[in-house]
Amino acid sequence: MTIDLAPLQAQALAELGAAADDEALEAVARIYLGRKGAITELMGRIPSLTPEERPGFGQTVNATKRAIETALEARREALADAAIAVARGGAGFDPSLPGAPLRRGSLHPITQVRREVEEIFRSMGFEVVDGPELELSYYNFEALNIPADHPARDHQDTFYCDDEGRLVLRTHTSNMQIRAMEKRQPPIRIIAPGRVFRNEAQDAKHEHTFHQVEGLVIDRGIHVGHLTGTLKGMLRAIFQTEIEIRLRPGFFPFVEPGFEVDIRLPGAAALGGVLGDWMEFCGCGLVHPAVLRAGGIDPQAYSGFAFGMGLDRLVLLRYSIDDIRHFMGGDLRFLRQFG
Ligand code: DAH
Repeated sequence: MTIDLAPLQAQALAELGAAADDEALEAVARIYLGRKGAITELMGRIPSLTPEERPGFGQTVNATKRAIETALEARREALADAAIAVARGGAGFDPSLPGAPLRRGSLHPITQVRREVEEIFRSMGFEVVDGPELELSYYNFEALNIPADHPARDHQDTFYCDDEGRLVLRTHTSNMQIRAMEKRQPPIRIIAPGRVFRNEAQDAKHEHTFHQVEGLVIDRGIHVGHLTGTLKGMLRAIFQTEIEIRLRPGFFPFVEPGFEVDIRLPGAAALGGVLGDWMEFCGCGLVHPAVLRAGGIDPQAYSGFAFGMGLDRLVLLRYSIDDIRHFMGGDLRFLRQFG
């Protein structure tokens, strides 16, 4: 028995080609290829044919089936392409137009200077550590020798994040001193850069959110000479020239003795420095024995120095920026200048 399936195939291909959407297409596919479809029905006849008839009949049906399947797949793709073209703006899409320019982002100036400072300290053998911004009051205050009723807390009013006053946004990176000591044995050499927070009125020099870099070195026989040598080395690397510094006595409960460090920058007065050519740069000192003990380190055996410097200040100086509020303001015209 020979069979001519050409008319069936022609009709199937015409119907597939005319299907306007996926739903119509799948309906046509079912008519020919479905469980009760024409092709399936033809296949079902094969067992009732004589052995001589079977090969020829089978080949013809198979060829028709493949032709219909190929046409179905082609139509599916054509419909999908058409849907994409519509999504892209229909017939108006012009693939020869130049693409939209890719905007290159850039690192925030604070991030750039922070990375530079990290590199400098790494080259001096320091480890860079990171820690929580939402901090237990214990690490931010108590363990640093600042008890609850201590007047030093007045200078560091912060955002208290629970009713008991146990959770605070850290007011300085000094919290990392204790955390670093808890996890390490001397010799310790770390810096901890990061964001800090204060609840204070904002102006060109004060923000509720700013950045510090804490430094901590603990070993046997550490003294103030190690501290000044380290700070001068860092300043030399940052400003690419020798920078004069001076130490004034300064009170911070977690160091004894404590100092404020000024750096001499000709023209600092013009940048708003109130000390003539001198500009306040950081707080520092030798780690208080009570703080060493809180960190689990024996103050009889070891001593250390610590410093905390404002990163924002450094960036202001570096780029002669007049207002700290630019940093968190999110104005792209400001940020693009550092790309
Ligand atoms: N944590 C102090 C502040 O935010 C700065 C500071 C002073 C850090 C003395 C120190 C230090 O490590 O020894 O004002």
